[in-house]
Amino acid sequence: MTGTAPCPFPFPEGPDARPPREYEELLGRPGLPLVMLSNGSEALLVARHAEVKAVLSDDRFSRASFAGRPMFARTPESLALATSDPPVHTRRRRAVLHAFTARRARRQTPWLRALAGDLLDELETRAQPVDLVNAFTVPFALNAITEMLGVPADDRSQLRPLVDRMMSTTRFTREEVAAAHREAGDYFAGLVAAREAEIAAGEAGDDLLTELLAAPEAERLSREEIAVFGAGLLMAGYETTGNQLAICALTVLLDPALAGRLRADPDALAPAVEEMLRWSSLVATGGAPHVATEDVRLGETLVRAGQVVVPLTDAANRDPAVFADPGRFVPDREENPHVAFGHGRHFCLGAHLARAELQVGLGALLHRLPDLALAVPAGELVWRRGMFIRGLMELPVRWPVVRDRPV
Ligand code: HEM
Repeated sequence: MTGTAPCPFPFPEGPDARPPREYEELLGRPGLPLVMLSNGSEALLVARHAEVKAVLSDDRFSRASFAGRPMFARTPESLALATSDPPVHTRRRRAVLHAFTARRARRQTPWLRALAGDLLDELETRAQPVDLVNAFTVPFALNAITEMLGVPADDRSQLRPLVDRMMSTTRFTREEVAAAHREAGDYFAGLVAAREAEIAAGEAGDDLLTELLAAPEAERLSREEIAVFGAGLLMAGYETTGNQLAICALTVLLDPALAGRLRADPDALAPAVEEMLRWSSLVATGGAPHVATEDVRLGETLVRAGQVVVPLTDAANRDPAVFADPGRFVPDREENPHVAFGHGRHFCLGAHLARAELQVGLGALLHRLPDLALAVPAGELVWRRGMFIRGLMELPVRWPVVRDRPV
């Protein structure tokens, strides 16, 4: 990152679940380096924890102002929240907030446990080795969000390949990504119409799309906004959690002593999951670009009105000013103010649900299959490339078969 020409960003993805190597250098140098984004825009990179939080909570940085210059095939219209500013963002977020509270997530926990149990029942009947991503982590996260949205079970396998394309940066062509967005948009427009017909016939269900359609008129989102939410929540809800859960599973597979501690002490699971969130780098694109709407001082740099900044939450999660020994995985880290779920008004809507899913999913694996082991050397695992969300292509595992399991 020396010389005068801005270097291209995003940087090459880091090894396994770690962030790009360049982030460490960014944290150690003053100022905000200039990079070139994939759409040709120049941007300043923000890596330090305090400054990342400052960008994410300062109204003088606008996402909507950047939205007209999309970096990948995804269009701003396909996202209800991530690329909007107040008051549009506030109105939309308020309409769905009630469905993603800590209380709701607690109420969903028994159901999540049952879901994990059913998937593991099925997994145990398969011939080994089994790919944990396709047999457990992804279906677990996919079923959780589609159940909330009221997507019929038979439609889920059709939606999964669409989401793969929608969440692509470079893995699929622009045409393939655009076609997947159209198809998912049409699918959710159809589902919204079906739910409206059910409400009109007095047969309303209890899914999220129905709740949004039946909201008091003054707060109700438009039909189009609700359809966009359907596709957006599907994307945001399962790609992230399914991949993060696979990374959590890999972490314990590589560290049997940690697995044993987490099995023996249920209270150790929540802090360990927080550290897994801090330690792994899920967002392959770095972060959402923001445009300064006026001059703003960020640390020692004066960001000029019109300049683009990219706050890097994965870099902030390794800031030595905040985390002691940041490159070390410390499952019982006491202070862990990570920003893996973002910060400020765009703080992850699904964070409570995601935490519940990660704790339930990892806990179920640890207890149900205590002798689970990697079926290939860790160095042979293949990581996803060219996608918004990082993760493993496959996670092949084995376990000893117990013939006479007590009933
Ligand atoms: C391990 C799992 C997850 C991680 C690490 C994660 C991470 C994040 C991050 C970093 C952001 C902020 C991005 C930004 O600033 O633009 C975000 C936003 C969001 N997340 Fe999550 N997420 C996870 C799971 C979920 C789930 C289960 C849902 C459920 C529906 C969800 C829905 C959303 C939505 C709708 C937003 C946009 C919020 C807004 O712009 O107001 N996420 N997530």
